[in-house]
Amino acid sequence: MSENGAVSEPSERGRAMSDNGTQNKPASGAGAGAGADPGGEDQPDDPLLRWRSEFPALEDSVYFISHSLGCLPIKTAEYMEEFLELWHRKSITAWDDWLPEVDRAAGRIEKLLSAPARTVTMFTNVSLVNSILASCFEYTPARNKIVYTGLDFPSVSYVWKGEERRGAEVHVVPSPDGVEIATQAVLDAIDERTVAVPISHVSYRSSFVLDIPAIAARAAAVGAHVILDCYQSAGVMPIDVVDLGVSFACGGSVKYLCGGPGAAYLYVRRDLIGLFEPRVTGWFGNEAPFAFTMPGQTYADSIWRYMGGTPAIAPLYQARAGAEIVGQIGARAIREKSLRSTRRVIELVDERKFALHTPRVPERRAGSVVFDFVGSADVARELNRRRFFCDHRPGAGIRIAPHFYNTEDEIDLFFEELDRVRLGPGKKDH
Ligand SMILES: Cc1ncc(COP(=O)(O)O)c(C=O)c1O
Repeated sequence: MSENGAVSEPSERGRAMSDNGTQNKPASGAGAGAGADPGGEDQPDDPLLRWRSEFPALEDSVYFISHSLGCLPIKTAEYMEEFLELWHRKSITAWDDWLPEVDRAAGRIEKLLSAPARTVTMFTNVSLVNSILASCFEYTPARNKIVYTGLDFPSVSYVWKGEERRGAEVHVVPSPDGVEIATQAVLDAIDERTVAVPISHVSYRSSFVLDIPAIAARAAAVGAHVILDCYQSAGVMPIDVVDLGVSFACGGSVKYLCGGPGAAYLYVRRDLIGLFEPRVTGWFGNEAPFAFTMPGQTYADSIWRYMGGTPAIAPLYQARAGAEIVGQIGARAIREKSLRSTRRVIELVDERKFALHTPRVPERRAGSVVFDFVGSADVARELNRRRFFCDHRPGAGIRIAPHFYNTEDEIDLFFEELDRVRLGPGKKDH
């Protein structure tokens, strides 16, 4: 632990849990996995497995759902207790700690996005962040186009389609196969009429990595703004929002950052911060919230001008441990391991002749692998019941994402269990 109590090494408490804990793997239909101990000791060459002890749920599950809900760090309980203790002990004066926590949480995200200091602030979810950004723009007949793709997250699309009521015209670039999208098709859609390009760095439904530098360069050339949704990339691959050349970026705590729901973030390119006046606003976006001036908004000069009403504080404490751990390990090491893991998953998918719905090319593949076969939704449901955590998306298939804390053996265990569920005990079809 570092001097300020932040997680900088796997903690004593975590190690003790893991030493004393029975390394129970999930109960398997046919007892498979029994006897195998993918606890990490058998893979001494993988330094990231030291962090397993910080995530007790790994002891009795195969946890491959980090693209949707990252595993709970043991330290989270302590940080949430800190939040409650401040409330209990300091009452109204807890705000003296709580408001700076917004900036501290933003600082942790700035590190993950390689963003300059004071260019990030915190919200509760990405849909809200997009609503705020949408309220920054005006549409004219000459410039009213919003461009994104059929691989983007539906919730974000709902926000931008709603802008059509204000004069926007949404252009969704389709993905022919539901997996990838030709960069040129996106570039062709971005023209002098384009206002904004709210687009995912990585598609939630295929793990496809879009060519953001090319898209951002095209947007900049025509005076449009890229709003990058980093939800499926932050925490599993390196991101440099400045190098990528985007105007805005957003994402949240729920997935690879292991922070649970409620701590989403917004990055605004420094020179753009003062340029916009979001109509979706509130008193924490005011230059002097505690002056209680009426009736109009006078926006803060800082990144806080994008803030609406009272920020949600508890989720920031809840998300702290995950962001610290991911920041401590570093995205490069996580990415290297993730590429190895997803390659192994693809081998096992191919062996079974399942349909692969994720790019094979490593540079175009992020942290999850999506694959499909007849009956996959039912199989995913049963795997979750057996604590082999994964999910299923209609038209895409089963999604799994081994994260930094998973062992290679768990990948094999997962597929052995999947075979058992799919084929019944004792059967094999490959
Ligand atoms: C790419 C992407 N964007 C956004 C979201 C979620 O948005 P929100 O924070 O509004 O729930 C998800 C997943 O839940 C996602 O995968």
